[in-house]
Amino acid sequence: MDRLKDKVALITGGASGIGAAAARLFAAEGARVIVADVQADLGREVAADVDGLFVQLDVAHEPDWTRAAGVVEERHGRLDVVFNNAGVVCGRSIEDMDLATWDRVIGINLTGVMLGCRTGIRLMKANPGGPGGSLINTASTAAYAAIPGDPAYSATKSAVRLLTKAVAVHCARSGYAIRCNSLHPGATDTPILSPALQAAPQLIGAFNAMSPMGRMGRPEEIAAVALFLASDEASYVTGAEYLADGGMLAGHPGI
Ligand SMILES: NC(=O)c1ccc[n+]([C@@H]2O[C@H](COP(=O)([O-])OP(=O)(O)OC[C@H]3O[C@@H](n4cnc5c(N)ncnc54)[C@H](O)[C@@H]3O)[C@@H](O)[C@H]2O)c1
Repeated sequence: MDRLKDKVALITGGASGIGAAAARLFAAEGARVIVADVQADLGREVAADVDGLFVQLDVAHEPDWTRAAGVVEERHGRLDVVFNNAGVVCGRSIEDMDLATWDRVIGINLTGVMLGCRTGIRLMKANPGGPGGSLINTASTAAYAAIPGDPAYSATKSAVRLLTKAVAVHCARSGYAIRCNSLHPGATDTPILSPALQAAPQLIGAFNAMSPMGRMGRPEEIAAVALFLASDEASYVTGAEYLADGGMLAGHPGI
């Protein structure tokens, strides 16, 4: 309890899956939560559940960030945590890729994270008591091992890893107590996997078998790592990458 007491946390992709689990967990730990998402109905539901605020935000759209920042400033006068978690899969191989699809995935999964970090830093620098806060960027195990059928997803998640480190070092060298870390879930049971599972229900076995634990992660298990990174317990953790993959990348499969 109270691990995020008095902190204000904005969560992108907060309407569903890992983001919604984080909204609930952060609120239970005392945070005032802003759920930011393109899905208004679901987002409002989650925000109401946690006694928080919903802002409609397309992470790839710069003016949306300006508007969201205005809402945070007006309602809370501070910002302590940005969980840059919104993301999409694409599912097109390199041979099937078209430029509009590629640009859309880059826009959401990479540019959206950059805009979230930039906006977060601007607000966190103005916090009463001095510049401070935590930026958490959701990447993926796909940052380390490519998904051959999804080069756009793999490329963006890999890029988020180094974007995170550049932001972390910049903030530390600038003397800001603003930390920035990446979070790398393995296959996690959320709606992002639904289209793939609808098209090929047998994939459920493959998703479970990816981890030596023999199961997918639960959104709450990923949110728990984000909670640690958001809290002051992680005060010396920046520029780091946190895997939560049930051991998937820890060993060679099958031997
Ligand atoms: N579930 C997994 O297996 C898995 C594995 C590794 C990484 N991830 C990453 O975790 C993050 C959360 O995904 P999830 O699994 O909870 O999926 P999800 O589909 O349940 O949630 C993603 C959320 O992002 C929102 N979103 C999509 N585009 C947006 C945009 N342009 N602006 C704002 N919000 C937008 C969606 O509306 C949705 O609420 C994503 O970045 C995803 O890539 C998921």
